[in-house]
Amino acid sequence: MSEELLSPGRTLGVIGAGVMGTALLKGMLDHGLLSRRQAWGAAKTEASCEEVAQSLGITTSREYADLVGDAEILLISVKPGQAAKVAEKLKASGLRSDALLISVLAGVTTDRFEGMLGSENPFVRAMPNTPCLVGHGVTVYCGGRWATDKHLDLCKKIFLSVGKALEVEEHYFNAITALSGSGPAYMYLVMESLADAGVRVGLPRDLAMELVAQTMLGSARMVQETGRHPAALRDDVTTPAGCTIGGLLMLEDGKIRSVLARAVEEATKIVEQLGRGKS
Ligand SMILES: NC(=O)c1ccc[n+]([C@@H]2O[C@H](COP(=O)([O-])OP(=O)(O)OC[C@H]3O[C@@H](n4cnc5c(N)ncnc54)[C@H](OP(=O)(O)O)[C@@H]3O)[C@@H](O)[C@H]2O)c1
Repeated sequence: MSEELLSPGRTLGVIGAGVMGTALLKGMLDHGLLSRRQAWGAAKTEASCEEVAQSLGITTSREYADLVGDAEILLISVKPGQAAKVAEKLKASGLRSDALLISVLAGVTTDRFEGMLGSENPFVRAMPNTPCLVGHGVTVYCGGRWATDKHLDLCKKIFLSVGKALEVEEHYFNAITALSGSGPAYMYLVMESLADAGVRVGLPRDLAMELVAQTMLGSARMVQETGRHPAALRDDVTTPAGCTIGGLLMLEDGKIRSVLARAVEEATKIVEQLGRGKS
């Protein structure tokens, strides 16, 4: 059981209890970082509130103004375009000056969020990814102007409950959003394509998918656990004149490296636009 996150009588609220917000809530609850009584969530529609209340067993509300006053940590997980609206609502709802705000909004910088709040609340910007749902996410975070080491430690504890957590400089955020924030979607596309490829060469779809998923997981663990470069690990699979080198040649003919690089480059440009409020 992990150490408690909150002071007695204080709460943690997730504003925007959608995919990412509930993944983080679930991780914290499962790891005993907070009790169900200490957690609450807010969503836009009654249907979402009911669903989250049922699945996580916590208080949820569309009108969360009366919950803000007791909050010690507020995790903001609405879409980036809702940032100003949420900041306005927090200001009008008795936000305590010591409440820590953590935002996972793509593209919204600490300067911009702190400007919208207009207060000296400690603020941390973070970028998680959806594998947080199964405890294997990766989250980067950085502190704003009034965030101390204590706030960064709290933040780290939260994100460690759903995977890896790394403190990084804020200027890396757009690139990281495009690489590991969007990354699971790229991996799913690769997995889907390889499973189709397995079907093409005669395998039943279920078997192909299971083989592909475990191969991706195993390859990732080989990189993490051996510390060896992927190119060196790839050489180990590649017999002279064998089938693997033939397959690799076809991938290179299809420009797989530059296609992946262009995908991340394009996603980075779009995050930059999100940050300027253009999307
Ligand atoms: N999904 C990812 O892979 C990912 C990865 C990293 C970061 N993020 C960031 O996480 C944030 C949320 O993304 P998501 O994928 O979790 O989106 P999502 O599933 O659509 O969740 C958004 C949540 O915000 C609620 N909401 C909307 N307007 C609100 C308001 N004014 N006040 C309170 N709640 C409001 C929505 O309620 P309803 O359900 O009732 O509409 C929903 O629960 C985004 O800023 C995104 O950049 C997402």
